[in-house]
Amino acid sequence: MTDGPKITTTAGAPLPDNQNSLTAGPQGGLMVQDYQLIEKLAHQNRERIPERVVHAKGWGAFGTLKITGDISQYTKARCLQPGSETPMLARFSTVAGEQGAADAERDVRGFALKFYTDDGNWDLVGNNTPVFFVRDPYKFPDFIHTQKRHPRTNLRSATAMWDFWSLSPESLHQVTILMSDRGLPVDPTHMNGYGSHTYSLWNDKGERFWVKFHFKTEQGHKHYTNEEAEPLIGKSRETYQEALFGKIEDGNFPRWKMQVQIMPEADAENTSYNPFDLTKVWPHADYPPIDVGYFELNRNADNYFAEIEQAAFSPSNIVPGISHSPDKMLQARIFSYADAHRYRLGTHYEALPVNAPKCPVHHYHKDGQMNFFGQKTGAIDAYYEPNSMGGAVEDQTAKEPPLKISGDMDRFDHREGNDDYSQPRALFELFDDGEKSRLFSNVAAAMGGVPGEIIERQLSLFKKVHPDYEAGVRKALKHAHGYEASTISTAAE
Ligand code: NDP
Ligand code: HEM
Repeated sequence: MTDGPKITTTAGAPLPDNQNSLTAGPQGGLMVQDYQLIEKLAHQNRERIPERVVHAKGWGAFGTLKITGDISQYTKARCLQPGSETPMLARFSTVAGEQGAADAERDVRGFALKFYTDDGNWDLVGNNTPVFFVRDPYKFPDFIHTQKRHPRTNLRSATAMWDFWSLSPESLHQVTILMSDRGLPVDPTHMNGYGSHTYSLWNDKGERFWVKFHFKTEQGHKHYTNEEAEPLIGKSRETYQEALFGKIEDGNFPRWKMQVQIMPEADAENTSYNPFDLTKVWPHADYPPIDVGYFELNRNADNYFAEIEQAAFSPSNIVPGISHSPDKMLQARIFSYADAHRYRLGTHYEALPVNAPKCPVHHYHKDGQMNFFGQKTGAIDAYYEPNSMGGAVEDQTAKEPPLKISGDMDRFDHREGNDDYSQPRALFELFDDGEKSRLFSNVAAAMGGVPGEIIERQLSLFKKVHPDYEAGVRKALKHAHGYEASTISTAAE
């Protein structure tokens, strides 16, 4: 016995024995009236919740966003005004692996940020890459199916991945980043984050500007080669958790510089590329990055499940001064995330402490499972709106400027007139010889077991990016797998 806290049932009654179940005689059987044992077993049966359908494996921490620059001419967002400091949560993740997957696997990394602003939560749910594999959300579930397990073998399938990519030239940009050095960062602190989509900022005058958000690591870029990662995974599957948690426990707080690229609203009509296409960046020469401030992560969660696993990020969470854009992918995400949270966490996921805004919350949603907060309408007798009972009313100052849209409703071919090759080429040309050689060997390694027809189709796409890209991968394929084009039955193109 200690003087510390005493165990109780969930109803608060003291628990005299947490070692021996209640039985008829020392040998048993058990008494069904042993509600303490039943409570314990029943709770265990409910410990797991569904893992995220993507980005299941993650690592997170709390910190602060500090604004040191001045972008007040573009936005009225209070959290982006000079001098402002906003508490925040970051969760990093891999995309494809399940919750038990190894951390040091080649994959895109999620880079999800939740800012607890005075005007509600602003979530920027990005990746460590500025672009994505598909540009139409209709293709997102198909793409993710190629990353997850094959229904029959229950193994991940390189054939499915390259089949899909080779039939989707818009994926080339992201595939090139994934297979480059940046596809395998050593830990979450040594990578950049990107909002990726085009969002918008709007100011007090009602003017809208298109914006891209960038978060540049202040720890520097560091990556593993495949050869370095393999033995590491044999030793520990948790290298990211160890690194992020450990650094913060040691007081070695990681930081990222925040930058924005700003595009005047009218420019969107005149760029040579669609500025709302998620497979494209805005070249820095056209839209130079502007320093806004930085964020620092300086506090670990006390309970991983409650604060990181139950964290619910959504691109629908915006605040006055920040808004969306016509990007189709972004628009689908505005729907998809809150829908996923209602399934994964429950109707009132936003009332969980990690998701709860740190400003007053008033709404007229009513009842529902696990509703522990009662009425949020601002007055006891107000449960509908409009009312004359003193309930909360709308706030016209939060009204954003109108977004111009026009055109015929149709299912437009998103591949028509799109240049899928110039930007991957610009990236390829940034790589030095060592980076190019690792790109070739990483692609070849990832193509093990893929049928020749699919390999040839993908090589023809690489060739359109740069002849050296195709030649380099072809040579690496021969080296890695003894692959020869002549060994296949039907070559595409
Ligand atoms: P710039 O030379 O002005 O910018 C190059 C950008 O590429 C920098 O942001 C740099 O990031 C990043 N970069 C450098 N090496 C790699 C790499 N191995 N993998 C991924 N990114 C890398 O050129 P542009 O703006 O004209 O863009 C050229 C290409 O650079 C693009 O096609 C795109 O693939 C890539 N890129 C562009 C970004 C943009 O917003 N314009 C953002 C990220 C990549 P850092 O500053 O951290 O070194
Ligand atoms: C997680 C859907 C594209 C970044 C998720 C989840 C869903 C989802 C359902 C799980 C949410 C949860 O259960 O908590 C989609 C759809 C997309 C899309 C439908 C395209 C139409 C993207 C893009 C990015 C991205 C383009 C980055 C730019 C993330 C991140 C997470 C995530 C970082 C994990 C968030 C966390 O840490 O909790 N996505 N996604 N997704 N997605 Fe997407």
